[in-house]
This record gives sequence, C-alpha cells and structure tokens, in this order.
Amino acid sequence: MAKINLKILKIEAKNEIKKSQNLKELDEIFRKYLGKRGQITQILHSLEKLSKTKRAKIGKTTNELKNFLMVEFEKKAKDIKEKIEKEVERKEWIDITIPGKKPILGHLHPLTQVKREVEEIFQSMGFSVVEGPEIENEWYNFDALNIPKNHPARDIWDTFWLKENLKLKTKNLKLLLRTHTSPVQIRYMESHNPPLRIIVPGNVFRHEATDARHEFQLYQIEGLMVDKETSVPHFKAILGEFFRKFFDKDIKFRLRPDFFPFTEPSFNVSITCLVCQGRSCPLCKRTGWLEVAGAGMVHPNVFKYSKLNPKEWRGWAFGFGLDRLAMMKYRIDDIRLFRSGDLRFLNQF
Ligand code: FA5
Repeated sequence: MAKINLKILKIEAKNEIKKSQNLKELDEIFRKYLGKRGQITQILHSLEKLSKTKRAKIGKTTNELKNFLMVEFEKKAKDIKEKIEKEVERKEWIDITIPGKKPILGHLHPLTQVKREVEEIFQSMGFSVVEGPEIENEWYNFDALNIPKNHPARDIWDTFWLKENLKLKTKNLKLLLRTHTSPVQIRYMESHNPPLRIIVPGNVFRHEATDARHEFQLYQIEGLMVDKETSVPHFKAILGEFFRKFFDKDIKFRLRPDFFPFTEPSFNVSITCLVCQGRSCPLCKRTGWLEVAGAGMVHPNVFKYSKLNPKEWRGWAFGFGLDRLAMMKYRIDDIRLFRSGDLRFLNQF
C-alpha cells in the first residue's frame, strides 16, 4: 500500500514542481510534501509503528523519495530565480541609441524681451540699471516727489492703498502699490552722489479701468540723469538715439508741455503711431500719435527732498510706459493681450 502511495506521490509531486510558476507556489508545494506536516514527513513519522523489516524497506524508499524531491525543489527554485533575473535585466535595459524626448521649452515674455532690449540700449549710453520696491510708502511715491497730502495732483494716480501691515510700515507712513517708478529717483539720489545716470525698469499699479491703451498693472522704465550742466536738448538727443536704436529707424517723436509736480518744465513724449503709420486708428484715438512717456527737468524741491543742492545740480527725468513701447515695436493694437495668457498671441514672439 505504502509502496503504491509513494509512487503516485512521486509522480504528483514531480508534476506540481514542474508546473509551479513562482517561488511562492513552489514553497507551498514544498510544505505540502516536505514541510512539518507534509505528506512525506508524516510517512517518515509513522514508520515506528511498522515491523522492523517493513520499516527498513519503506523508510529507505521514502528517504530516497525525499532526497529526490529535495533536488527537484532546488533545481526548480534555481530556474525560477534565473527567470526573474533575466526579466529584471530585460526591463532595465536602456537603448541608448533611441533619440531622447525633447522637453517643451517656453521663451521669454515679449515684455521681458523688450525690457531687456531697452536696458541694453541705455546701458550702451552709460546708464546703470537700478530697481526699487513695488510696495512703496506715501513719502517716496508722493511727498518726496513734491506732491503733498491733500494736493489734487495725488488724484492723477489712482492708487491701490494697502491695508495696515505693521511689519512693512515705517514712521507711520501709509503703504501702497507704487503708481509709478519715479519714487526710485528719490531713493537713488538719497544714497548716491551725482553725477548720476540710471534707468529703473519695474511694475507699477493703477486703480483704473482697462481699455486698448490702459492696463491696471504695467511696466514703466524711469530714466534719471543728474549733472552740473544738463538740459532739455541733452534729453532730446538721448531720446532720439534711444528711439533710433529701439525701432531700428528714425521715427517722429514730439515733446508737448504737460504737468508733473516733480518736474519743471514738464512734457509728455509721443511718437508716431506705428500701428497705423500716423494715419489714424482707434489705438491712437485717430490722432496719429501715441503718448509713450512723461518727462521733464527735475524740480528743485525733489533735489531738496533727496538732500541734494538744487543750485549745484541739474537733472532731467522720464517715465516710459514699456507696454506702449512694445505695442509700437510689434504693432499690437490692444495692451490687454500682453497679460491675457493667450498662447496664440505669446507664441508669435
Ligand atoms: C508718470 O507715471 C510719471 N511718473 C512719468 C514721469 C517720470 C514724468 C519722470 C516726469 C519725470 P504718466 O502717468 O503719464 O507719468 O505715465 C507715464 C507713461 O506710462 C505714459 O506716458 C504711458 O506710456 C504709460 N502709462 C501710464 N498709465 C498707463 C496705463 N494705465 N496703461 C498703460 N500705460 C500707461
């Protein structure tokens, strides 16, 4: 009986070992036959109940089967492990000849491109590029620019006032998002001795309705030159040179009297509208001109507030709307396109 069972057992065990797919399955088969309660282990335990001759005979055959199966298990485990290793190798293999995936690269925003170009042109004329804070206090944005409290001139700039922020607050001055880059004139003159030649690019913010020519956030480029002898003709010459380099050709521009509390005399600077070539279009309000900057000779009070002697120094300053310059350069008829996030527009630059 035991003899028959052992033969069948051998065939069954061999088949199961052969069919097993992985180490877990193989381990289960091992336990079924050779584990603590495995069938062969149990046969070996029951040998003591048999007669001496039967015990010796069946014991021998069972041990042979046990040893045979041990070898089978080892062989199969080796096979499975090799298979796993090959699979891992196959998966990890890298074909270094396959062309790489190209990362999608963006490019600089048109306003950044124009800003850099303007900076380069002024640097080539000896100007340094300077920056100032976007959160300003009312002293630098207004008072030091000769715009006292309750003066109607403050209304020229619709201001985003900030709520109380004790961390940023100094000397109990109200905080705001700067309405122009002109405060940096004061900050720079306070800490640098003339002669000075700087430009100040940066964001400014105005609480005003938007249209094709107006945004509530825009870039300005402030310019300031202070020296013993400098004049409006100097300013005009620098301006002409800048336009020539920026537009790559001579373009018509004009200065017209204007009012800024921090310059005297004051001008606004307009250029021929390049969208309609000066003929007439909605952007230039059918005048053929587009205002691109405010400018003028530095007011003596501004020198005083900056701790410079107005009798000793002269200066001129300007504030370009960078967005408007970019509009003219690329013939864009609506300023709102710059910050629309529309890739159909941005990908053209
Ligand atoms: C000023 O901001 C003065 N600080 C400029 C200045 C500097 C005058 C130094 C004298 C001396 P104004 O508000 O005009 O001025 O703005 C200057 C330029 O910024 C304008 O000519 C225009 O090109 C641009 N600009 C002003 N407001 C807007 C707006 N809402 N959207 C787009 N561009 C604007």
